[in-house]
Amino acid sequence: VVSLRLSKTIVLVGLMGAGKTTVGRRLATRLGLSFVDADAEIETAAGRSITEIFEDFGEAEFRKGERSVITRLLKGRPLVLATGGGAFMDPKTRARIKDIGISVWLKADIPLLVERVGRRNTRPLLRTGDPREILTRLAAERYPVYAEADITVESGGGPHDEVVEDIIAAL
Ligand code: S3P
Repeated sequence: VVSLRLSKTIVLVGLMGAGKTTVGRRLATRLGLSFVDADAEIETAAGRSITEIFEDFGEAEFRKGERSVITRLLKGRPLVLATGGGAFMDPKTRARIKDIGISVWLKADIPLLVERVGRRNTRPLLRTGDPREILTRLAAERYPVYAEADITVESGGGPHDEVVEDIIAAL
């Protein structure tokens, strides 16, 4: 555990498959902070899986729930918080993350993302077509916005622990 006295929550952003949850868990352990996965919190709050929330209520309602869960978590004690890939795209959610947290973009290449999400395709946004095409389109839309994060770290297919060390070095 490194001794860094952080008073802000570290918020991981980036596309599906970039490693936010795995890297976030390990980063939290290294920093002696708790780890929270925003998607898991949303599922608990809704009593439904992300897929069911999309099916039953639609994406717009999911985004509202996502915003309120992330806002609540940001107001609490410092954590490492992994967010779903769309969270930072919502202007209000992004403003709150930028105000209260330290944002970290885990940037990864499309082939790597495709390989990772293909292993277990439970993401509603990727079920409507070819994951490679969808991720390519999402990257084009989202990368300019993710680039507004405070820190950008390449999540290039190497060991997740390297990414963790790169984030610590950048803090
Ligand atoms: C989404 C990403 C997912 C989840 C939802 C929507 C997105 O999270 O929040 O399916 O818009 O990119 P992960 O990035 O953790 O897969």
